[in-house]
Amino acid sequence: MGRKVLFFGDVGIDDTVALIYAYLSNDIDVIGIVACYGNVSKKQTTRNVRYLLEKIGRTDIPVMGGAEKPMTGEVPVFYPDVHGPQGLGPISPPPANALALENFFEVIGIIEKYSDLVIVNVGRMTSLATLFLLYPDTMKSINSFYIMGGAFNVPGNVTPSAEANFYADPVAANIVMRYAENVFLYPLNVTQNAIVTPGMVNYINRKDRTHLLKPLLDYYYEEFYKKKVPGIEGAPVHDALTLMGVREGKMCEFYRTAVAVEISGEARGLSIGDFRKTFDPHDFDGRPIHSVAISLDYLSFYKSFMGTMSGDEF
Ligand code: RIB
Ligand code: CA
Repeated sequence: MGRKVLFFGDVGIDDTVALIYAYLSNDIDVIGIVACYGNVSKKQTTRNVRYLLEKIGRTDIPVMGGAEKPMTGEVPVFYPDVHGPQGLGPISPPPANALALENFFEVIGIIEKYSDLVIVNVGRMTSLATLFLLYPDTMKSINSFYIMGGAFNVPGNVTPSAEANFYADPVAANIVMRYAENVFLYPLNVTQNAIVTPGMVNYINRKDRTHLLKPLLDYYYEEFYKKKVPGIEGAPVHDALTLMGVREGKMCEFYRTAVAVEISGEARGLSIGDFRKTFDPHDFDGRPIHSVAISLDYLSFYKSFMGTMSGDEF
């Protein structure tokens, strides 16, 4: 049995790749999944999670419905151009799984049950921020948080300065950055370098026990990244890298700083850390100091991803 992980995601392609990595890894034990709006609607992400769990024979994992809208009060914008019309590239989960759950507060029972729980949040932070607003004491029992979001002193992916998870609900991201303790944050600085090439996909496909990785990752690369990012050699698996961090702490170099998120205006979603060399520690505004991943050792990522996904030695 591995580390107990409660997973929050907007289950599109790279969230699903992360869940498949967890399923195939002996060191990570997903004990609950919160399906939130983001890449696609909450109804669709709920459906996608149920489809995945049925495919891998893990319908015993509890699924909870998360947020449907951001804390900004806006109508959410979805990204079918990136993740496909239903969030899983060319795959259409059967309509029988179309239930949108309203059982979010079952997460409290899960959090209270495990003393050493890790939260992995790889989508919008609305649901996680809600827990900090309503259950601040309960949240103190969480061991650590692995979060995909932000872009520090590098370009964003939805605006010139903002990454998608921070941009879509900057209010929630700011709450999480202010109140969560022991955060390992995986921004675009590292996740956009966690590239899975078509050659890697074809190798894994010969062994793939889920038969999902090739359709998902071929679509992600051919239909989106190859068209949008000139010269990119494969698809970046943002969310898988973040989840892999739970067991592979040495893949990335971390910088210790507090983090704030700009919540409106041209720089909405901008992630701010204190990267000034002359100031130490970097705990501005009374915020907790987080570990922000700033560089990736690609070979370590490659070995872990290929080894776990194919079952071969790398
Ligand atoms: O910016 C990348 C992130 O936005 C990933 O988590 C992706 O799944 C989307 O949620
Ligand atoms: Ca995601």
